[in-house]
Amino acid sequence: MSRFAHQTVLVTGGTGGQGASHVRALHAEGANVVIGALDADRGAELAAELGDRARFVHLDVSREESWAAAVAETEKTFGALTVLVNNAGVQNPPALIEATDRATWARILDINLTGTFLGIKAAAPALRRAGGGAIVNIASVMATGGTAFYAPYVASKWAIRGLTQTAALELGRDSIRVNAIHPGVIATPFITEPAAGAHAPIADFYSPEPFAVPRLGQPADITALLLFLISPDAAFVTGAEYVVDGGLLLGPALQKETV
Ligand SMILES: NC(=O)c1ccc[n+]([C@@H]2O[C@H](COP(=O)([O-])OP(=O)(O)OC[C@H]3O[C@@H](n4cnc5c(N)ncnc54)[C@H](O)[C@@H]3O)[C@@H](O)[C@H]2O)c1
Repeated sequence: MSRFAHQTVLVTGGTGGQGASHVRALHAEGANVVIGALDADRGAELAAELGDRARFVHLDVSREESWAAAVAETEKTFGALTVLVNNAGVQNPPALIEATDRATWARILDINLTGTFLGIKAAAPALRRAGGGAIVNIASVMATGGTAFYAPYVASKWAIRGLTQTAALELGRDSIRVNAIHPGVIATPFITEPAAGAHAPIADFYSPEPFAVPRLGQPADITALLLFLISPDAAFVTGAEYVVDGGLLLGPALQKETV
């Protein structure tokens, strides 16, 4: 399939659970893919596995100069950048607000929020040079309500919503659409490995059993929507947000056997 032939997509956190899924699917559908990531070994390995039309660039989303280099490298390699997926993200170790130190707060905001801001800032001129394109920001179901013990993460993801809507307004006339996805609980290292400074991974205390779709989300569940959002089928969709959570936000589903 070549739905995305002639597209060049930069995926941040492109070696992570969801990021690698996006990269593989986009590449399979004909796109040039740029794996923007911190982990050079895994990035180079994934690029080598995919072969032609795949490239790893070292990208720390919290550093403006890293963004400038990644966008320049993308344009040099593939001639243009047409899609940015702001996917990189980190969670804080669970803690009450009063027990959260300022350094942790700053680190989470720096990567999740400032990283997304810097990405839009660096990519917008390139997308404009390409004649238009799309940006998809990966936020979270935690951007739709409060979640105790996750203040930095929740605040960073809520703010991405405002950034998404503002960027959509600013870039629409340049044929650049900007949307957000709110994943539910997705089976990636994000939930199977403890956050830096945490004792236990989320998977240890989360069970999907009570929810409408009683399973963990898979990276492919998010990839499917991402591909729609960057495709021409979504030409009239901008500033929008999509929850992909198997019904988690609806709350527990009452089962027939229990009534
Ligand atoms: N897995 C979930 O349950 C879930 C739920 C809601 C939202 N999300 C969001 O989905 C996105 C992808 O997460 P995932 O589930 O694939 O987890 P993951 O931990 O597998 O991937 C996150 C990636 O971000 C990268 N990253 C961290 N800091 C970075 C930096 N400064 N610069 C560049 N890359 C950096 C990590 O190296 C990793 O590859 C994140 O934004 C996360 O907040 C995940």
